[in-house]
Amino acid sequence: MSTAPFRRLLVTGGAGFIGSHFVRLALACGISEIVILDKLTYAGSLLNLEGVLDDPRVRFLQGDVADPDAVAEAIAGCEAVVNFAAETHVDRSLLEPAAFVQTNVWGTMVLLEHATRARVARFLHVSTDEVYGEVLNGAAKEDDPLRPRNPYAASKAAAEHFAYAYWTSYGLPVLITRGCNTYGPYQYPEKFIPLAITNLLSGQPIPIYGDGLQERDWLFVDDHCRAIWMVLLHGEAGQVYNIGASEHRPNLAVARALVELLGADPETIVHVADRPGHDRRYAVDWSRLAALGWRPRISFAEGLAKTVAWYCARQDWWRARRDDAFAAYYTRNYKGRASVSRSS
Ligand code: DAU
Repeated sequence: MSTAPFRRLLVTGGAGFIGSHFVRLALACGISEIVILDKLTYAGSLLNLEGVLDDPRVRFLQGDVADPDAVAEAIAGCEAVVNFAAETHVDRSLLEPAAFVQTNVWGTMVLLEHATRARVARFLHVSTDEVYGEVLNGAAKEDDPLRPRNPYAASKAAAEHFAYAYWTSYGLPVLITRGCNTYGPYQYPEKFIPLAITNLLSGQPIPIYGDGLQERDWLFVDDHCRAIWMVLLHGEAGQVYNIGASEHRPNLAVARALVELLGADPETIVHVADRPGHDRRYAVDWSRLAALGWRPRISFAEGLAKTVAWYCARQDWWRARRDDAFAAYYTRNYKGRASVSRSS
């Protein structure tokens, strides 16, 4: 991997899932200094930064991207910004949409404003393939229209529009990435793959929304981070880059693979009431990123096996995350989704 052309990098949301992996990658690539700004909501944790916080190149600040004072302190002296800070879970956005506007839209605005004043050389905004809405056929290209269909996706699309506006209006060198579904170690257990693994390890069933034939493209977290690093260093300002893996699977197939890897009973897959507005399929064309020289390195089979092995080995980590707050969320999200049937 190339080394960074800037000395000090601000990583917001660096104690979250993808953010913490990205911090490790940037350190391994020889970055001189990293400032991590993270609010430490339920999704972020210092447990995700084990082995990182002792590094003398890292400064950790607990703070909110929506707080201008916290951002002003964090961005001082930084030459580049990678914005991971976000509320990211679709189910939660259906329960509490306002929190998504506050962090994802207003928080991004505050960052853009301060990054413009600080004249940073790069501002990479981490977005999602969900901004295209469901892609029933083919694969979305970067210039396709955005048709977000849930509050999370709508907030990410709005944030992107502000980021792009800061490029065209104020010349802030903005880059946007739209990643597909990402999985791997340290992912908070509300998301489908870690929820399924930790449920199975706890003797609970895997809840499948609706018929389970919704399709996602699954990218291992290390590959996602390498893609962001590549775009940060070599992307063209003002451009959007899709990040895909070309590893599309229906949810039911993912659940069955996990049941097999963990030697669980196939009866532990249960169908429950569907997510409202559930997008049937996502798919992106990532040839623009491939032209920069990036390719995913980890196949889905390999990544899933690594992920299962990690959750089996790190029960200390995920049992600490499946705490009372998680239980309260779980009850709230799944209580209206009583089991519809066992999967056949
Ligand atoms: O596509 C990228 C996006 O992927 C990211 O931007 C989001 O932050 C991330 O949450 C993810 O969105 P999804 O809604 O696709 O991910 P989630 O893990 O929540 O669900 C994956 C699929 O599994 C989706 O079709 C819903 C289904 N599902 C999910 C859960 C939590 C179930 O069938 N049962 C469940 O209990």
